Amino acid sequence: MAQIIDGKNISSLVKEDVKKEIEALKQQNIKVCLAVIIVGDDPASKVYVGNKKKACEATGIESLEYALPADTTEEELLCLIEKLNNDPAVNGILCQLPLPKHINEKRVINTISAKKDVDAFHPENVGHIMIGDYTFLPCTPAGVMEMLERTGIEVQGKHCVIVGRSNIVGKPAAALMLNKSATVTVCHSKTVNLKEICLTADILIAAVGRANFITADMVRQDAIVIDVGINRNEQGKLCGDVDFEAVSQKASHITPVPGGVGPMTIAMLMKNTLTAAKQQNNLI
Ligand code: GUN
Repeated sequence: MAQIIDGKNISSLVKEDVKKEIEALKQQNIKVCLAVIIVGDDPASKVYVGNKKKACEATGIESLEYALPADTTEEELLCLIEKLNNDPAVNGILCQLPLPKHINEKRVINTISAKKDVDAFHPENVGHIMIGDYTFLPCTPAGVMEMLERTGIEVQGKHCVIVGRSNIVGKPAAALMLNKSATVTVCHSKTVNLKEICLTADILIAAVGRANFITADMVRQDAIVIDVGINRNEQGKLCGDVDFEAVSQKASHITPVPGGVGPMTIAMLMKNTLTAAKQQNNLI
């Protein structure tokens, strides 16, 4: 049976560290504030935003929530973002994705000031990540790296296979793994011989968005398996991309869903918000 990497526990440790720094900043009269924008009524997005708000409360970060109706125009949304960009009391801005179809996601991402872009989605921040010189790391892949590090798993020289090539997870995870000297293969829906490639992984990261996509026959004995997926199975139960029951019998380490990467993503968002505030106050 694999060792379970407890994301809930590790995320609490990260949030504790953030909380201590936030308290120290308060001693210097510096408050830290995150603005979260949500457009429409997507139930999953509402849960994620609620969890982000709770994490802000737990770490002492002030949060401002802008819950906008689904028929908000792109211009109205961009106008709000500009206002928050220019508000010195706001250190971080996050616009929850996905957005309603009539709003151009790329334009929204490009409008958020790179200095307040705590998701690290802005092309300027993506460029910094590609050259290994960054202030913010995208929260989910950063959470994966933090989990591995705090579990004492060495990445250097390992073969990391990432299944999924999204801008939010797959692509930045590949960059972070490369920056830590792993050998990286990125697989996707058009990959031929997916199973054979996965079987060569020392570290397998599943970021596909399909329940039970990674089965035990795709996992090498004693591989480290990181499950980034958040799906619902036929019974409506929350599950990842990995067949946890079977794969946990083969892997040396595995992350559960829920309680794995999910809480880490939110903890890293708190860390990025703290970093933004420190940078804006010339403390780093
Ligand atoms: N939707 C799903 N994941 C994320 C995330 O990390 N950030 C934002 N802004 N939206 C998301």
